[in-house]
Amino acid sequence: MEPGTILKSQGILSVRDLHLPNKRVLLRADFNVPLDESLSITDDSRIRATLPTIEFIRKADARLILCSHLGRPKGKKAPKYSLEPVGRRLAELLQCEVLVPDDCVGDAAIHLIANQRSNQVILLENLRYHAGEEENSEELARKLADLCDVFVCDAFGCVHRAHASVSALPRLVPARGAGLLLEREIEVLTRLTTAPEGPYVALLGGAKVSDKIEVIESLLPLVNGLVIGGAMAYTFLAAQGLDMGKSLVERDHVGLAKHLLGRCAEKNLPVFLPVDHTVVTEIKADAVAVTKANGALGADDIAVDIGPQTIALFTDVLGGRSSQLAGAPRTVLWNGPMGIFEMDAFAAGTMAVARAVAQSTATSVVGGGDSVAAVQKAGVTPMISHISTGGGASLEFLSGQPMPGIAALRGGRR
Ligand code: 3PG
Repeated sequence: MEPGTILKSQGILSVRDLHLPNKRVLLRADFNVPLDESLSITDDSRIRATLPTIEFIRKADARLILCSHLGRPKGKKAPKYSLEPVGRRLAELLQCEVLVPDDCVGDAAIHLIANQRSNQVILLENLRYHAGEEENSEELARKLADLCDVFVCDAFGCVHRAHASVSALPRLVPARGAGLLLEREIEVLTRLTTAPEGPYVALLGGAKVSDKIEVIESLLPLVNGLVIGGAMAYTFLAAQGLDMGKSLVERDHVGLAKHLLGRCAEKNLPVFLPVDHTVVTEIKADAVAVTKANGALGADDIAVDIGPQTIALFTDVLGGRSSQLAGAPRTVLWNGPMGIFEMDAFAAGTMAVARAVAQSTATSVVGGGDSVAAVQKAGVTPMISHISTGGGASLEFLSGQPMPGIAALRGGRR
């Protein structure tokens, strides 16, 4: 399919369709990157992911103004939420001057933009220094709209938020469209929700069933197999009557897990749950860990990872060796780790699954901050077809929930 086809069918222009030369282009990016205590960026993937759009706009001889939030400063200025470190990183990556006025609107920003030279990029300071950003304030959006001629959104990680810079602002700028990163996210995820190539296997993990209910409900009509690991699997196993000891079971969701398993059974949809676990009696790096099969956990046992038989089961499913699927998966979606992979002693299951997703011949889509970190830790990032830059956003997109930042881009003009 031609790039841009899905965007066009949704009435959204791509940055490639917009008239950019000599225009002031405001690009909403998601530069919400992790910083350490000395305010150094520990992972610049989100900055790099927007570089193609930035380069595209700069090559079109436009004047580029970037804006983003960072963290949750709740309407107050605080140095630890400043975008200055992002500005410095961008200056290195782009090999140009990146100017950061101390406020996203007001005199300093207006003055810098009015005097911007073609080889300079302006990065507006944290949008969330203004309470109006999270309140979707029309007044803040109007001030931002006055700074530009063209608006481009590349901030996939925020399009599920009805905030001023992603929702109110685009509607005030007729010349608006999606950046190359947002375009790819929309295209890949739309295909997953409308016409995924089967067999389609969804691999879900992470701590809580309650975070994934909507996405599981939306996946049921689409997938040919559901693989469930991580702590959320313990609630499903408890729903099958197994004693999970002190493992993280969401007691108030056991009934729901039972209901979901019932629906899968009605549809003859195979659900693969862990058959064994790495268990400890205390969660600490040097804890004595043992493998226990379902039904063998003691009252003090805490499951912290999938066990070796489960690794074999899950990697067989992903590698097309399961008799319960009609062939090797052609599409794999992975969201959520299999255990407490941040601690090396409990990372084996998540690492094995990351490698299996990467080695599968399927189109593989990984979403959610933890699974993306797991893919990086396993060193298999280049082997994944698409790594979504939005954790919450990708889950809400796949759940079919309204995406204010995408809806607001519709109906743009060149
Ligand atoms: C993210 O990190 O998922 C996005 O930048 C959105 O951030 P938020 O959850 O603070 O709105």
